[in-house]
This record gives sequence, structure tokens and C-alpha cells, in this order.
Amino acid sequence: MATTTKVVDKVAEDVRALARPQGGVGDGGGYAEAAGPSTTHPPAPAAGAAVRPAADAMPAEPAQTAEPVAVRDEPFVSPHPFATEMRERRLAAEANGRARRDTLLYLNGVTKSFDGFKAINNLSLVIQKGEMRAIIGPNGAGKTTMMDIITGKTRPDRGEVYFAGDVDLTHHDEAAIASMGIGRKFQKPTVFESHTVEDNIRLSLSGSRSVLDALVHRKDEAERQRIEAILETIRLKDKRKTFAANLSHGQKQWLEIGMLLAQDPELLLVDEPVAGMTDAETEETARLLRDIARTRSVVVVEHDMHFVRELGVKVTCLHEGSVLSEGTLDKVSADPKVIEVYLGR
Ligand SMILES: Nc1ncnc2c1ncn2[C@@H]1O[C@H](COP(=O)(O)OP(=O)(O)OP(=O)(O)O)[C@@H](O)[C@H]1O
Ligand SMILES: [Mg+2]
Repeated sequence: MATTTKVVDKVAEDVRALARPQGGVGDGGGYAEAAGPSTTHPPAPAAGAAVRPAADAMPAEPAQTAEPVAVRDEPFVSPHPFATEMRERRLAAEANGRARRDTLLYLNGVTKSFDGFKAINNLSLVIQKGEMRAIIGPNGAGKTTMMDIITGKTRPDRGEVYFAGDVDLTHHDEAAIASMGIGRKFQKPTVFESHTVEDNIRLSLSGSRSVLDALVHRKDEAERQRIEAILETIRLKDKRKTFAANLSHGQKQWLEIGMLLAQDPELLLVDEPVAGMTDAETEETARLLRDIARTRSVVVVEHDMHFVRELGVKVTCLHEGSVLSEGTLDKVSADPKVIEVYLGR
């Protein structure tokens, strides 16, 4: 505190020093009009000016009922030299807070460099609650790095990353972020090959989230119902007893999505889910994700434009770590900037 007071006193003294007449006491040139009287260095009266009695210099006490008189020609010295800047920063932060309060995911000015190369460059992106968003962009655009930042795998150099309005994800690690309700599906499916489809889902069920867990004898039934619902969503009801190793590539991707659903995420991040799938699997995956997006938010990264069209959602095109274009797929794919960097290749 003592140090802060000293700094404030020093700066206030500097401000006063700047306001002093440059030509010395008695000069009076320009100073009094420009900056008003100073209590420490009063200007001498100009030659010939009538010297008024000291009492005259004291303004009469204003009547209690008088309108407030505007004080003019008083130099305004802020109580803190950075008060205005701090106030503006606080107001901007409050406005930001209001803007992000109802969002599910809020990225603002995020930057991440690798050895001086900006993989993510001042990226701002907002996903609303219940929204599904498709992210497109050429190789190296920063799509996967963006997911790494959201999930805590990579720390941004700067920028804001908020989940559910006010959870600052930059302060949490991967495990904590996953347990908050952000599920992530990587490009390669990672399932337990030597277990059946059903057991893969069972192993992934989140342990103690449901209040029904307390009622042990009802837990089995609740668990069975959840597994049924997930198997239905991921189109693998008929494959429940099949070992994961014997599924097609597309079915493995669906199973992994099911394993993520078992953890009941509020936001699901899916990186290139249809790469390597058959056309029929690709179309089914679009339907599957649309089903999932009825109850949670989904961010899908994908190169396959046919699939993105099937999703029928807002599209964000990334390029060199920033948003290049955003809107419907028709709008984005007609954007000359997008055609140049991506679709035109
Ligand atoms: N850990 C890292 N170290 C160094 N460079 C990295 C790292 N991670 C990503 N990059 C670089 O950042 C850029 C963005 O990569 P990223 O994987 O995010 O792109 P992408 O949009 O997912 O591309 P793709 O469509 O090929 O999957 C690339 O140039 C990549 O080489
Ligand atoms: Mg990628």
C-alpha cells in the first residue's frame, strides 16, 4: 500500500510539474488562462493590474439552495493516473461478460504459436447452447489445434476461452475439462477392440453422475436403459454382442461417439468423423450427429463437403488460424476468399 501511495504521489507531482509555467514565477505568460491557478505556484499579477484585497479573492459561500456552479478552469487531476484506462477496461470486460454469459463456448482473440509460427491467430468463435457447428478449412488451418486449446491439451499464448459462460478453460487441465462436460473424438477411433460393443459403452458410463446411482438396485436398470438409448443413437443395437475389433471403420467411429455420449457431455467435439467411411456411413453419420445435437452442442471438423451439406448447420471456415468466413455452407462456399484458399485448390 505504502509503495502504491508513493507512486500515486509521485505521478501527481509529475502532473503538477507539467502544469507549471515554463518561464518561471512572475512570467505568467499563457499559463493562467490555459491551465488555471495552481495552489503551489500562483502566477504574479500582471503589471498594472489592480491588486484586490485578499478577502475579495475568497468566493462568497454559495447559498444552500443555489444551483451547483460548474467549476471551470480547474486542472483535472485524476485520483489515479490510469483510472480512465482501468475504467474502460472494466467496462469492456463487463460487456464481454454479458456477451458470453449465454454462450456455451466462447473464444476471443486466441493465439497459439509453435516456434514462432502462429497455428492459431487471434481466433474468435462463439458456439451457442444447443448449436451444432461445422468447421472447415484447408490442411494446417488450425482446426485440430483449436480443439486442443478447448480441451486443455494445448495452452493458448493469449486470448479468452470460456465454457458455459464463465468457466475459464485456460485454467484447467484436460481431465478437468473432460469432467466438466466437453467430450472429444479424435480422428482415429480408439475403442477397446477385445470387448463387445455393449461393454465398450458400459465401461465408458460416467460413474456417479446420476442420483439413481444411490439406489443400487435400480442402478442396473437405469444403466441398461442408458446403454440401450446410446446403442440406438449410434446405430449399433444389432451389434451389441460384436467385438469392437470386428466392426467396420465407420462403426468403430460410431462406437467411439457412443462412448463419449456415455459421459453425457454438454459439448461434443468431433474431428473428421467421416474420413475413410463409405458414402452410406457418411450420410448416416450426418443423421447420427443431428440426433445427438438435439440434446447437446456439437462442433464437427470435416473436409467432406457432401457431409457438411448433410449436416445443414452454420459453417465456419478457418484459414491460417483465423476465421476466414462464416455462415451457411452456400454463403461460405461462394465467398471468394474461401474459393481462393480452400475450395479452389
Ligand atoms: N504441436 C505442434 N508443434 C508444432 N507445430 C504444430 C503443432 N500442432 C500443430 N502445429 C502446426 O499448426 C498448424 C495447424 O495444424 P492443425 O493440425 O491444427 O491443422 P488442421 O486444420 O487440423 O489441419 P488438417 O486439416 O490437416 O487436420 C500446422 O501447420 C501444424 O503443422
Ligand atoms: Mg486436423
